[in-house]
This record gives sequence, structure tokens and C-alpha cells, in this order.
Amino acid sequence: MQKNNYMEVTFPSLSVNEGFARVCVAAFCLQLNPSVDEINDIKTAVSEAVTNCVVHAYPKTSGGLINLKCETQGQMLIITVSDNGVGIKDIEKAREPFYTTKPSEERSGMGFAVMESFMDKVEVEKNDNKGTKVILYKRISRLQEQVKNA
Ligand SMILES: Nc1ncnc2c1ncn2[C@@H]1O[C@H](COP(=O)(O)OP(=O)(O)O)[C@@H](O)[C@H]1O
Ligand SMILES: [Mg+2]
Repeated sequence: MQKNNYMEVTFPSLSVNEGFARVCVAAFCLQLNPSVDEINDIKTAVSEAVTNCVVHAYPKTSGGLINLKCETQGQMLIITVSDNGVGIKDIEKAREPFYTTKPSEERSGMGFAVMESFMDKVEVEKNDNKGTKVILYKRISRLQEQVKNA
């Protein structure tokens, strides 16, 4: 069994960094031998979580920081996306499909629903100091490895 591993990176809340975050997580998770479908699922969920920080977390300021952590526990990939922004008043409500506080900006309100459908588990919490913490869990099948070693 492979040793557990982790990485952490912090970057400004700029929309250009959404692509960076996706690729960063995709590169990190390669060590678990994911399928192409699994990589795409993970990238989609990370995009939604990071976009939420960019769009919702720092509305009145010139921006803040986004922290991205990835961790492996066996074949489980755990991704934490956190910000120190305004936070979410009613987390349960925010997770409902089609709920958005920015309908005027043509947001679909489907971000959390997308994360849930592509990952095994999604936790949304208040960040320790201020802001929001989203934890995404995905168990990576070892099918690719089995095929390679067959
Ligand atoms: N990081 C965040 N900081 C503050 N509010 C957030 C954050 N992420 C999500 N939200 C709130 O949760 C709502 C639902 O998010 P989501 O399902 O991604 O829909 P959308 O982004 O399309 O509005 C957002 O409209 C926003 O009010
Ligand atoms: Mg969203």
C-alpha cells in the first residue's frame, strides 16, 4: 500500500487561478492511478468550489486568498478548498439545487449539486477563523493499476 501524501497551495482569488487549481489537483491525484473519468469528475468539482470562492467569498474587497489542500488516505483523495471571505449564512439552504444569491449574474445555483454528483462526499463548513471550507472526498478505484499489472 502506498504511503499517505499531501500538498497545500495558496493563491489569490482570481478567476484565472481556477484553471490552475484544477490542473494542480489532477496532477496530484495521478499517484492514485485514477481513470480519465475520475480525473474529469475531480476537476469539475474543484472548479466549482474554487469558482465559488472567486465569485462569492470576497465580493466587496479587491480579493483575498484561496487555500487548496489535497491529501491521500489509501485510495481516498480528500480535497479542501477554503477562503477567509464573507462565509455562508445558511449552509443547508446554499446546498440546495438551484439556490443562488446571485441570480442577476446568471449563476445557476448548481455548484454544490455538481460537486455532490461528481464526488463521493461533500462537506461544507464555516472556516476556522472566517469564511468557508469545502471538503471533497473521492475514492479512486484501482482498476487502472490492475489493468496495467495484468
Ligand atoms: N465560498 C463561498 N463563500 C460565500 N458564499 C458561498 C461560497 N460558496 C457558495 N456560496 C453561497 O452558496 C450559494 C450556492 O452556491 P452554488 O451552488 O455554487 O451556486 P452559484 O455559485 O451558482 O450561486 C451561492 O449563491 C452563495 O450564496
Ligand atoms: Mg457556484
